[in-house]
Formats: sequence, structure tokens, C-alpha cells
Amino acid sequence: MPNPEQAPTRITMGAEELIGRIRGRRGGSMKDGRDSGRLKLRKPCVEDGAGISALVESSKPLDPNSTYCYLLLCRDFAETCVVAEDVAKVGTADETGGAGEIVGFLSGYRPPERGDVFFVWQVAVDADTRNFGLAKRMLREALKRPSTRGCRFLETTISPSNEPSKRLFTSLARELQARCEVSACFSESHFGSRDPEEDQRADPKAGHEAEYLFRIGPFDLERMR
Ligand SMILES: CC(C)(COP(=O)(O)OP(=O)(O)OC[C@H]1O[C@@H](n2cnc3c(N)ncnc32)[C@H](O)[C@@H]1OP(=O)(O)O)[C@@H](O)C(=O)NCCC(=O)NCCS
Repeated sequence: MPNPEQAPTRITMGAEELIGRIRGRRGGSMKDGRDSGRLKLRKPCVEDGAGISALVESSKPLDPNSTYCYLLLCRDFAETCVVAEDVAKVGTADETGGAGEIVGFLSGYRPPERGDVFFVWQVAVDADTRNFGLAKRMLREALKRPSTRGCRFLETTISPSNEPSKRLFTSLARELQARCEVSACFSESHFGSRDPEEDQRADPKAGHEAEYLFRIGPFDLERMR
């Protein structure tokens, strides 16, 4: 359940989200999977690949990737990835794994040459389940696993306009009592844009915003285990 003490920090939310959150806190509406008891966090399996792909596709501004890409993550990076399934909803993996609908996904890995870093690639939460702490729960879940033992830093990249994502990671930094340093990482030109402003004028959907590196740490994960 959401922590009522966190309510003041959410004043910047839209009215619709705020109303949804209040309804959820009263426990009146569970049809959207907002009850944390219905949300099961676990490692992904290949049967989740299509559901993850669909969730990411509907989670703008995330870049959609091929289902094949998510199948590889499920197969080879499951230890550092997390899915949240709503067990009250029948999901795409039901025939094979008896799973509920995938309403949350986090992909991460340990960069081979930076042994104390956990890199978070994509985090997606189904629109009906947002603002109830699920993204932070998934981050905590990944950081509690043996697969992240020894990590002292968490890195991710965020585009400047993605306010919810910035809020999520700065909130995590506070929780970990760690610094959060922001620096340049991937520019628009790295994504193939020669003139971002011209690209935008020609086609507002074209181009890709720059991505800034958010580096959180150092922190001590043993305190969380
Ligand atoms: C970003 C995203 C994953 C957040 O998921 P979520 O489950 O709603 O996030 P949480 O409820 O765990 O919130 C975590 C913190 O971020 C804040 N936050 C989240 N969304 C917010 C919003 N729209 N406006 C203001 N603050 C917000 C919360 O208040 C909370 O802060 P707190 O811990 O200080 O109270 C979700 O909005 C999403 O899927 N967006 C589309 C995809 C995306 O942009 N992914 C991130 C890039 S990798």
C-alpha cells in the first residue's frame, strides 16, 4: 500500500493521478491492480517476453525494442531484471507459466568492466498502476538480490524531459542516503540526429533526446539485505 507520509511530495501530479491515488489508499478500487498484495515481483522468464514488450511499447517515452531483445533479457539477464505481475489478471504467460498480467518491468545488468556498478536500463510501470511505489519496489527488489552483491553505485540514463523518471531515481538516492551525480552521456547526435531542432520542426516525433547519466552512490547494500 502507498505510504500516506509520502503524499506531500506528489502535489506536482495531475488531478486524475491524485484522485486515483486517494481512491487506492481507501482501498475502494482494486480493479487496476493497485493493491500491492496483488503484485508479485519475480525474475522474468521467456514466457514473459511478449508481455514485457507490449508493456514497454505502451510506456512512452521509452524506446520500444524487438520482442527478441526482451526474450534475451529474460533468458540471459533474469537475475538482474524484475517483473511485476498482477496475479488477479490473466496474462500472456498464463498458458505456460500460470502468470498474471505483466504490469511492471525493470531491466538491469552489471557492466563487465565496472564491477561495483548496477546499471538500470528500462523501468516501465503500467499506466493504471503508477504512483503507488511499484517502480521503487522493483529497484529495491533488484538491489536485494545476490546478483547485485558488491554494487556500490547505481547508474541509469534519463532524458531531460522525463520528470517521473528523475523523481524516481532521486527518491531512490535519498532512500539509499547517497549522492546523485548527473553528467552528459549520450547526445542527440549519438542517436543519429545532425540537427535536433531541425529534426523536430520537420517531424515532431523524429529524433531522440539526449540522455544524461545519473550516478547514485556510493551506498551500502548490506543495510538493505
Ligand atoms: C517512471 C515510472 C517507471 C515511475 O513508476 P511508478 O511506479 O509510478 O513510480 P513510484 O510510484 O515508485 O514513484 C517513485 C517516486 O517518483 C515520484 N514520481 C513518480 N511519478 C511521478 C510523477 N508523474 N510526478 C511526480 N513524481 C512522480 C513519486 O512521487 C515517488 O517519489 P517519493 O518516493 O519521494 O514519494 C513510470 O512513470 C513509467 O513507467 N513511466 C513511463 C516509462 C518511463 O519513463 N520509464 C523511466 C525511464 S527508464
